[in-house]
Amino acid sequence: MTPMQETIINKETTNTPIWLMRQAGRYLPEFREIRKNNPDFINLCLNEKLSSEITLQPLKRFDLDAGIIFSDILMLPYGLGQEVEFKKNFGPQLGLLNLEIISKVDDISFLKKLRPVYDSIKRVSGNNLLKNKNLIGFVGAPWTLLVYMINRHSPKKQLIKDFFKDESLIKKILIILEKFMKLHVEHQVKNGASIIQIFDSWAGLLNEKDLTNYIYNPTLNLVDYTKSLNVPVICFPRGIRNYKNYCDIIKPDVINIDYEVDPTTICKKINIPVQGGMDPKVLLTDTENLKKEVLKYLEIFKDHPYVFNLGHGVLPETNPNMVDYLVKTVKDY
Ligand code: CP3
Repeated sequence: MTPMQETIINKETTNTPIWLMRQAGRYLPEFREIRKNNPDFINLCLNEKLSSEITLQPLKRFDLDAGIIFSDILMLPYGLGQEVEFKKNFGPQLGLLNLEIISKVDDISFLKKLRPVYDSIKRVSGNNLLKNKNLIGFVGAPWTLLVYMINRHSPKKQLIKDFFKDESLIKKILIILEKFMKLHVEHQVKNGASIIQIFDSWAGLLNEKDLTNYIYNPTLNLVDYTKSLNVPVICFPRGIRNYKNYCDIIKPDVINIDYEVDPTTICKKINIPVQGGMDPKVLLTDTENLKKEVLKYLEIFKDHPYVFNLGHGVLPETNPNMVDYLVKTVKDY
C-alpha cells in the first residue's frame, strides 16, 4: 500500500503523507519557463507531453506522496463547448453559456476533446517518480462549475445579482454536469488516477438553505459514483463552515479543510481522515514560523488519520525552498 492509502484506507497515524494543492504551478521556475512559451493555458493542459512533464516537476524536487495531474477544473466546461480563456491578472473568463450547444454534446465528442488529459494521466501513471505514490485526478464540484459557467469569471466575494433567476436553466445544467463529470472521473481512473479530489472552491458562497439543492445532493451523487470505481474520494468544500454536517451527509473518504476553520475542533468532531488546513501564506514567511505552524497541525492530528496539505493552493510568490523545508519537516516528524 502507498503512504496515502495507509492513511486513507487503513487509517494509519504513524506516518503523515504529504502533497500540496497547486504543487505544479507558477511558484516553480521550470513551470514558468514552459508557460512563457505557451501563452494559451487550455492548449497547455491539452499538450499531453508538457502537461505530464509539469505534473512530474514537483515530484522531481520534493519527496511528495502524490502527484496531481496538471489540468484545470474548467476543462470540463471547455469539453462541453463553452469557451474558456485564462487572462493574465484576471483569471478565467468563460464565454456565454449556450444551453443549446451544451445539450447536444455527446460522450464521444466530449471524450475526444479531453483525450489529451487522459493520455497525459496514462503517460504519468507509469512513471518511476510515482512508484509507491498516488496519482490524483480531480474534478470541480457541480456547484463550483455551475458558478463558473453562469458567472463566467471568478465570483470573488459574491455571485452576480441574477444568478438564481433562471431556475430551469440551472436544473438543466446540473443534469448535464452530472453526466459529464462522471464520464470525466471514469476516464481519469481508467487511465491511472488512483484517488479523485473534488474541488468545491465556492461552497462558501451559499446560504444554509441552498446547500441541499446545490451542494449536498449533486455532490453525494458524484461521490457515490466515484466510490463505485473503487478509488478513494477527497472532498474540499472550501469555506463550507459546517464541515461536520457536510461529512455526515456526503461521507467522503477524506475531507480537506480550509485555513479558516479551527483544526482542533475539526479533529474532535470529524472521524474520517482529514487533509490540509495550513494557510498557504505561512510559506511566505520564514522557516522558523513555518516549522511552528507545520508542527501545530501535526500535533493536533497526531492520533487522527491525516494527510498534510494546505488550506488552499500554493501561492505563485512562494519560494520553492520553503516548500522543500515544509516537506522535510513533515517527513522528519
Ligand atoms: O494542483 C495542481 O497543481 C494541479 C493543477 C490544478 C490547476 N487548477 C492548475 C492551474 C488544479 C487542481 C486546479 C484546480 C482549480 N482551477 C480550482 C480549484 C482549486 C482552487 O484554486 O480553488 C479552481 C477554482 C480553478 C479555476 C482556475 N484556474 C482559476 C481561478 C485560475 C486563475 C487563478 C489562479 O489561481 O491561478 C486558474 C488557472 C490555473 N490553474 C493555473 C494553474 C497552474 C495558473 C495558470 C497560469 O499559469 O496563469
